[in-house]
Amino acid sequence: MCGIVGYLGKRDALPVLMQGLKQLEYRGYDSSGIGIIYRKKIKVIKEKGKLVNLERKLSDNLSAKIGVAHTRWATHGGVTTENAHPHSGPEEKVIVVHNGIIDNYSRLKENLGKEGNSFLSETDSEVVAHLTEKYLDSGPEIAVSKALSQLKGTYGLLFLFRDHPDLIIAARNGSPLVIGIGKEEMFVASDAMAFAGYTQHAVFINDGEMVILSQNDYRIVNQQNLVIERDVEELEIERSNHSKNEFQHYLLKEIFEQPESVFRAIGRGGRLLPDFGTALLSGLNLEKRDFFDIKKIHIIAMGTAMYAGELGKFIMENLTRIPVEVSDASELCGINPIVDKNTLFFAVSQSGETRDTLAAVQEIQQKGGRVLGIVNTVGSTLARMTDGGVYIHAGSEISVASTKAFTNQVTILTLLALMIGRTRDISLSRGREIVSQLMSLPEKMEEILQRAEDLNVMAEFLKDYKSVLFLGRGINYPVAKEAALKLKEVSYIHAEAYSSGSLKHGPLALISEDMPSVFICTRGDSQEKIISHIQEVRARNGKVFVISNFDDDNLRDLADELFLVPQSDELLSPLLTIIPCQLLSYYTALKLGRDIDQPRNLAKSVTVD
Ligand code: G6P
Repeated sequence: MCGIVGYLGKRDALPVLMQGLKQLEYRGYDSSGIGIIYRKKIKVIKEKGKLVNLERKLSDNLSAKIGVAHTRWATHGGVTTENAHPHSGPEEKVIVVHNGIIDNYSRLKENLGKEGNSFLSETDSEVVAHLTEKYLDSGPEIAVSKALSQLKGTYGLLFLFRDHPDLIIAARNGSPLVIGIGKEEMFVASDAMAFAGYTQHAVFINDGEMVILSQNDYRIVNQQNLVIERDVEELEIERSNHSKNEFQHYLLKEIFEQPESVFRAIGRGGRLLPDFGTALLSGLNLEKRDFFDIKKIHIIAMGTAMYAGELGKFIMENLTRIPVEVSDASELCGINPIVDKNTLFFAVSQSGETRDTLAAVQEIQQKGGRVLGIVNTVGSTLARMTDGGVYIHAGSEISVASTKAFTNQVTILTLLALMIGRTRDISLSRGREIVSQLMSLPEKMEEILQRAEDLNVMAEFLKDYKSVLFLGRGINYPVAKEAALKLKEVSYIHAEAYSSGSLKHGPLALISEDMPSVFICTRGDSQEKIISHIQEVRARNGKVFVISNFDDDNLRDLADELFLVPQSDELLSPLLTIIPCQLLSYYTALKLGRDIDQPRNLAKSVTVD
């Protein structure tokens, strides 16, 4: 699960590659490396840890017109400099950067070992360089083809050859690859973001294809060695904004961006039709009358996007009365998903590159299902492979822990629910109510953010616990799940979410003065019940923190700490209650001195199985 980028052309390759790696760091930050052709030799510079470590190692007097680079999230082999890419063949005639997993690498390694090759790393990728070098006498293209024909697994690969200073070969099977075509220069990467700002002309490579790139030309060939002609696409991709402005961390910056990003999700109002009490989302490739045929909605996603989907379920079932199922995409393929013509699938993903989500979409489409994407990253694999969809317009999200993408995903699912619901179930007045509530969200979010630092009091308590329970009922339960995930991700404190109704069925045994609970408790049908659950926890000496949208004397008495968010329609309350939860995680992690934007072991986008 890594990011790869290659460049050849008129510019100095090193700054271009470093810029590309910065854009790709979301794919992994265990180590990084660059390989260039310098004074007729291959020169590899690599280092473990964050990109800044590699940057420090690059000397100013190095320059090259061609190079490949890699940022790694370790799968095979520990986090060491030796395991960082690029990997080289035994005679350093070829180097390789790889994104994916070579399943049969041990057998290949064993065979190459018998032929006398010795390896410097524990990675699966190094065998690809050795294999290619073995066949190099037949020329680079044939050598790569022969090596590829022996690989089983997934790969996006870039090859650089010592004796061919105007050539990069790239190959794809199961890991994304895109070429960027500039004037007298070529880019190739796992994600077009890597060449954002340099060129917008892109050609996407498919599985089983190999690309031969020179400064002024490229040729795509398939496994039968037939040349493939493909249209050049114009991408509107902007370089990620890497400035933190006045914020100490991207996470905090992105939490604070939510009023503005939710405003963008509703199209600055343009995606809402107040007179008709509905929403208008173009790009779905569905007619209104198609909505009548939907008998079931099935949302697939991973991580935070899945919890957004769980909220989507609640909102959609309420507004459309269509049953909604939410699936962990990684589980879906294994269970042979049921696909029929009346089920509408939504794949939700910030990056649009999550391997499990893509695999599930592929399987559903293969069975003839219709899948729409709810995606943040423009031009991502998911955006391109779905049958239509909606961009959430959260803007680039850099912190690994997702915040503004979550609120925008929930907002878009609400717009979809409104759009479908208005054709099938809900009245004009209810539709108008939802529209006006959506319009008022940014202001309410601002109001919470003005009091952000109040959450420091709860964080000061939480930081000293080993474990925390997050509890909610109904629509608050998915909020509790996302809140628990956030705390785990950034503070490394164990956190679990339960429906507060299930407390008595086991988790209550955990309650003591060592186990605090955070209740998400909003005005609605279950508010009395939740208060009685809080009482049960208090009776067992459990500390209780409450995030609520109603001020109630009883609640104030019971809670050790209470944080109030503005009132809203119950269906939209998660978009407000989640903000103090995000801030609580942030301040707790800050007090514990965690690596907030790039937590240990995680990556922004999980691009391997
Ligand atoms: C990783 C990230 C999460 C994210 C999940 C799904 O686990 O760390 O923040 O929610 O992937 O990512 P996606 O890009 O598909 O939304």
